Amino acid sequence: MRDYYAQRAQEYELVYHKPHRQPALRRIEAWLREVFADRCVLEIASGTGWWVPHAAAQARAWWATDLNPETLAVAQAKALPACVRFAQVDAYTLQGLPQARFDACFAGCWWSHVPLQRLDAWLATVHAALPAGSRVVMLDNAYVEGDSTPVTRHDDHGNGYQRRQLRDGSEHEVLKNFPSQAEVIARLGPRAEAVVWHDLGHYWAVDYRLR
Ligand SMILES: C[S@@+](CC[C@H](N)C(=O)[O-])C[C@H]1O[C@@H](n2cnc3c(N)ncnc32)[C@H](O)[C@@H]1O
Repeated sequence: MRDYYAQRAQEYELVYHKPHRQPALRRIEAWLREVFADRCVLEIASGTGWWVPHAAAQARAWWATDLNPETLAVAQAKALPACVRFAQVDAYTLQGLPQARFDACFAGCWWSHVPLQRLDAWLATVHAALPAGSRVVMLDNAYVEGDSTPVTRHDDHGNGYQRRQLRDGSEHEVLKNFPSQAEVIARLGPRAEAVVWHDLGHYWAVDYRLR
């Protein structure tokens, strides 16, 4: 996963240029701006920072974190709101997280890449970094027949895999899950309250507060 996204960094945002996804993207960008207004936000696996200019526009502080320097470099080259900072952080450990009073968390297109057998531990790590009252949004791809890259196999844990090709012709098998609303909500655990599911066409989002 790490190497694939490092190699894909320069071409990653082509996925956000698909014409038929533009209306949904504009709606999501505007929604994220509102959700995170006045919040101090931890963004996990922020990648090339597609959501950052929009979601951080009215935030109090925004820490965009990712494991790959290659993707962080693409994001850092953008014109971004003054509240945005970057850190190289592993989503699974959150070690090296900056000292900040986070009261919100965002992860875009990351949940789907977390192996099912690691999801509970990953969510517990994220929640442990956030105080009660924090707002959390997980946004990800929905599977759309005829549009999404097909899932070619499943492993013994039930994880799906896609075969993907980069511009240099290299082929990669990438773990990608498409959970249902019920599966996502069931994973959130006892601290999640005020849970709202958003069906956003080519995307889904779950929005909740931590007690
Ligand atoms: C599908 S991209 C999502 C990027 C961005 N959030 C978005 O929605 O466009 C997944 C990102 O996860 C990053 N990544 C891979 N393994 C990671 C890890 N263990 N911890 C943090 N980020 C990781 C990759 O570098 C990549 O930027």
